[in-house]
Amino acid sequence: MFRIYGLLLTVGCTLATDGPVRWLDNSCVIETSQGTINLTPLGNTDNTPRFKDVSSTSDQYRYSWNPCLPFNEGTCSNVAVCQSVPDTQSFYMLGVQDNISYQDGTDQSGTIMYHTFGDIERITTIRLTCDPTQEGNLIVTGEQPAQSGKYFFELRSRYACFQEPTTTFLPPTPGAVTASMSPSPNPDIYNVKSIVLLLFTIQISLIILIVMLIIGLTTRRQSTVPEKDTEKSHFAYNSIN
Ligand SMILES: *[C@@H]1O[C@H](CO)[C@@H](O)[C@H](O)[C@H]1NC(C)=O
Repeated sequence: MFRIYGLLLTVGCTLATDGPVRWLDNSCVIETSQGTINLTPLGNTDNTPRFKDVSSTSDQYRYSWNPCLPFNEGTCSNVAVCQSVPDTQSFYMLGVQDNISYQDGTDQSGTIMYHTFGDIERITTIRLTCDPTQEGNLIVTGEQPAQSGKYFFELRSRYACFQEPTTTFLPPTPGAVTASMSPSPNPDIYNVKSIVLLLFTIQISLIILIVMLIIGLTTRRQSTVPEKDTEKSHFAYNSIN
């Protein structure tokens, strides 16, 4: 009930051009229509946050986040996101790994959202930006607007990149999201890749062959032309004599 309300709130607050918001069973491996995002390698496994006490660009608080697995910090226990106030040493839970939703962006990106349903509803939106050059960099914008309970982060990481969807040959229907849940995508993708590579090689070989044929034909023609010319000139020479 609270979940549905929170979801509707989120849908209403985001741009209509973005994809639908849907709840995730898993905050580690996120299956999307654009591919799979696997945040597992980025998460600490020792109950500490991977990104700890990151300063915000818009408020005076610090924010910690651990992708995939829960962590403890101060009075935040088993959380996914924790806000701390440096002056008072107080901590506020902003999300747990279980209550997470996902939304496709319009520009080859996606966002995850952590929801809390207590006396105060909070939503932490983390934009996942694919950056193959970075292991993991968290930019914290903080609470916007102030007192809204809406927090914004951006993760720039190679683990925020979409891996190839498992359903390569299925049309992109809404149902394909569920179909792409099947594990071990690698064998199929390798097969498709090698077939494409093979076809490409054959095509290149054909082009080279045709080019060689054309060159061969034109040089033969060119070499026969002077022969005829010399014959003609011989003839002309002979006829003059
Ligand atoms: C997560 O969702 C469940 C079920 O909707 C809810 O009971 C629980 O309070 C939520 N957790 C937080 C931290 O809001």
